[in-house]
Amino acid sequence: MRLVLLGAPGSGKGTQAQRMQARHGVPQVSTGDLLREAVAAGTPLGRAAKIVMDAGQLVADDIMLGIIRERLARTDAACGFILDGFPRTIAQADGLAAQLADLGVALDAVVLLEIDPEILLRRLAGRRSCRRCGRVFHIETNPPRAGDRCTDGGPHDLFQRPDDNEETVRRRLAVYCERTQPLIEYYARKGMLRRIDADGTLDEVDKRLEAAITA
Ligand code: AP5
Repeated sequence: MRLVLLGAPGSGKGTQAQRMQARHGVPQVSTGDLLREAVAAGTPLGRAAKIVMDAGQLVADDIMLGIIRERLARTDAACGFILDGFPRTIAQADGLAAQLADLGVALDAVVLLEIDPEILLRRLAGRRSCRRCGRVFHIETNPPRAGDRCTDGGPHDLFQRPDDNEETVRRRLAVYCERTQPLIEYYARKGMLRRIDADGTLDEVDKRLEAAITA
C-alpha cells in the first residue's frame, strides 16, 4: 500500500497513520517527525528547520524532496508507506511522482481528511506527544492511560509541540490554505483523491479511512 494522507494541521493524519502502520505492515513516513528528529539531533538541517517550523512556515521543497528520497529508499518502505505531511506543495507532489516513477511504483490513493477549522484549534491546543516513541495523545479525547505519561515500552514524558501555540497554529492553517490546498484539485484531476469526514471518534475515522482505501 502506498498512501498519502492529506489534511490541515490537526486533522488526524499522524494519529491515523500510526494506527494504520501496524495493521498494514508499512511504515508511517511523517516529514514533520523526520524534521523534529533533525532538530533534536542538532544537525545543520535541524537548526535551519527549527526556525522555519517555529514560524509556522514550510521548509524548502528541494530539502523536503531530498529527505523523502532518502527515506523511501530504506528497505522498510520497499513494499509500501503511509505519507503523513508530504507532499505539501505542487512542486513536492511533482517531485514525488518523479521519484516513484524512478522506482517503478505508483501511489494507490490520496485520502483527504476534512474537518472544521474550529475543531482543529481545540485538537492542537490539547495535543501531547511522547518524547521517546512519538505517540500522539490528546488531554481530553485521547489521554494516555497513565495520566500524564506514555507507557508504551516504559514510562516516558509527554511534551507539547512548540508550534502548537495559537498564533503559530493560525499561521500554519493559513499556509495550508495557500500552499497545500491546491493539491486537492491536483490529485482530484488525476482521479486519485478520496475524501473522508475526519470529525468523529478515532475508531469512526479509522473505519472511514479503511473504507476509502478499499473502495
Ligand atoms: P507536521 O508535523 O506534519 O504538522 P501538520 O501537518 O501541521 O500536522 P499535525 O502533526 O499538526 O497534525 P495531524 O494531522 O498529524 O494531527 P494529529 O494526528 O497529531 O509538520 C510540522 C512542521 O514541519 C510544518 O509546519 C512545517 O514547518 C514542517 N514540515 C513538515 N512537513 C513538511 C513538508 N512536506 N514540506 C515543508 N515543510 C514541512 O492530531 C492532532 C490532535 O488531535 C492530537 O492530540 C490527537 O490525539 C487528536 N485527534 C486526532 N484524531 C482525533 C479524533 N478523531 N477525535 C478527537 N481527537 C483527535
